Amino acid sequence: MALIEYDTRAATAFAAGRHLDDDALRGWRERIAHYLRPTAETRLLDLGAGTGQWMSAFRRWYGLTPLGIEPSAAMRALAQESILGGDAEHIPLPDGDVDAVWLSTVVHHLPDLPAAAAEIRRVLRPGGLVLIRSAFAGRPDGISLFTHFPEAATAMATRFPSALDVARGFASAGFAALALEPVPQLTAPTLGHIVDTFDRAAHTPLLLIGDEEYARGLARLRSADPTQPVVDALDLLVLRASGEAAAQS
Ligand SMILES: C[S@@+](CC[C@H](N)C(=O)[O-])C[C@H]1O[C@@H](n2cnc3c(N)ncnc32)[C@H](O)[C@@H]1O
Repeated sequence: MALIEYDTRAATAFAAGRHLDDDALRGWRERIAHYLRPTAETRLLDLGAGTGQWMSAFRRWYGLTPLGIEPSAAMRALAQESILGGDAEHIPLPDGDVDAVWLSTVVHHLPDLPAAAAEIRRVLRPGGLVLIRSAFAGRPDGISLFTHFPEAATAMATRFPSALDVARGFASAGFAALALEPVPQLTAPTLGHIVDTFDRAAHTPLLLIGDEEYARGLARLRSADPTQPVVDALDLLVLRASGEAAAQS
């Protein structure tokens, strides 16, 4: 079970509030390319692809044809991309089929990290990469939302995995951690661009706090300087699979 349910309400809020354009994601484009060294032939799986925004970006940025897998029918229904049903524990692809796997703000939803890591290892070629974009427990500093909703940072500290938890879960499946770095993004040109349409349902940490805490945070958000740019830094965790073929289960 994911941390929250991606039903039609959540999917609509996600599409309205969490899609980012190429200008916003310039840093991600560069850092992913740094590790992945993508070519048009790179077989890149977007796991937990949601509404497919990263698949479209990878197609535009790198000229490759991404694969996408996503468990929520409501998220898939909003996608411009063709995305298969499935989840991290059940990936409908053959062994050794892909060069790399991308997980963007998915890892905290995985109910069994070692099982997901083993399944990801199965579909990856030996030496393949896993690139994880996430907010991790213990690293809240880059996330601007937490200045308005400090209780959400506390909730994240207990309900999200840390980068070390994730690296350990993947180590059990034969992965070594290569890098962990914050990557800045321009979430919105100004706070004023998002304040009127701000929707709690688009942000998992805000669904983990009480209604009164949320109301207080929303009041802080609304009274903050609307001209300030909204810059966030989520982390990029990069792992490499061992050079051996995955063990048969
Ligand atoms: C915050 S959304 C991120 C969507 C997309 N990766 C993005 O960044 O635009 C989290 C996604 O993880 C998916 N998810 C939840 N549990 C999952 C699982 N066990 N395996 C794969 N994806 C999962 C949800 O359905 C949802 O689409």
